[in-house]
Amino acid sequence: MKKRVLSGIRATGRLHLGNYLGAVKGMIELQNDPNYETLYMVADIHTITTPFEIEGLRKNRREVIIDYLAAGLDPEKSIIFQQSKVGEHAELSFYLSSVVSVARMQHLPTFKEKIKQYPKNVTMALLNYPILMAADILVYKAGAVPVGIDQEPHLEVAREIAKKMNQIYRTNFPEPARFATKGEYIPSLRGEGKMSKSIEGSYINLTDSLDDIRKKIRSIPTATEAGGEMNLGVKTLFVFADLFIPGKAEQFRKEFESGKLQFVVVKDAVAEAIFRELEPFQARRKEIEKDIKFVDSVIKEGAEKARAIASRTVEEVKEKMGLK
Ligand code: ADP
Ligand code: TRP
Repeated sequence: MKKRVLSGIRATGRLHLGNYLGAVKGMIELQNDPNYETLYMVADIHTITTPFEIEGLRKNRREVIIDYLAAGLDPEKSIIFQQSKVGEHAELSFYLSSVVSVARMQHLPTFKEKIKQYPKNVTMALLNYPILMAADILVYKAGAVPVGIDQEPHLEVAREIAKKMNQIYRTNFPEPARFATKGEYIPSLRGEGKMSKSIEGSYINLTDSLDDIRKKIRSIPTATEAGGEMNLGVKTLFVFADLFIPGKAEQFRKEFESGKLQFVVVKDAVAEAIFRELEPFQARRKEIEKDIKFVDSVIKEGAEKARAIASRTVEEVKEKMGLK
């Protein structure tokens, strides 16, 4: 039997290089492996757990689907869908919440970060975020989840919920594991923290031009006494060098150690390589953007296929919990 895979990205904007390397690349790899059955969604319900604009949400969730398609997700191979179109996610989430304590949710690092970021938005939806994410995964009984390393605490919660449900209600949920890529943690261009949509100046958009990318990579704070300890900016630059110009990284490292490295040379080589990797994506995106009918049909058919699987799980859980 094929192993199921589920992943999603929130509808908060266009994808950046961190999303691509940490999540989408893993999604594509598993999609193209015949041992897996893959489901990929835009997590639009998760988007309402932090402040959002109604029209922005509508627009962004479509953008994420277009980004997916342009990056190589293929509706012939994967079920590509919108979370909110499959009501079973929210329904299962409520059933699962009965085996999770409030304290467990309050102590998650992701919850603590978000309430610091949005102190006026400490909502039940935000507290429930990881339970909804567990429902996303468990409603398909998915065993593998391609996401970046920052999502590990959420997967831990999903595993705990699966275990508890199996113990108490004799369900047969697998304990989902993260599928990691080489780019599971892409640092911020500012030299501190991770690349993230919510931090200005930290990211490269997948649609950035070569000029934009060059400027952004040049902005990595590498100023240093050459040859000494690598500061965070230099470390960041070498993360990109290892990923995008692996054949040259060693040489540049040696030059750094002997104090001869010109950072701008590394930076421009990295920028060029990033752009080369993104070029085919950008070309495909322009084509797909124009094809409104195709995108609409992907969204419609994806929801139908996903619902067919999800409804079976919800029926089973209701039966086992005494709700039927
Ligand atoms: P952001 O932090 O920019 O809002 P999301 O939280 O929407 O990004 O993340 C979407 C997906 O991309 C998740 O699987 C997440 O783990 C991955 N991801 C986000 N930022 C990075 C990063 N800097 N490095 C690797 N993966 C990342
Ligand atoms: N929490 C994920 C993020 O911030 C998005 C997400 C929601 C997700 N549901 C999921 C990822 C289910 C994997 C599986 O990126």
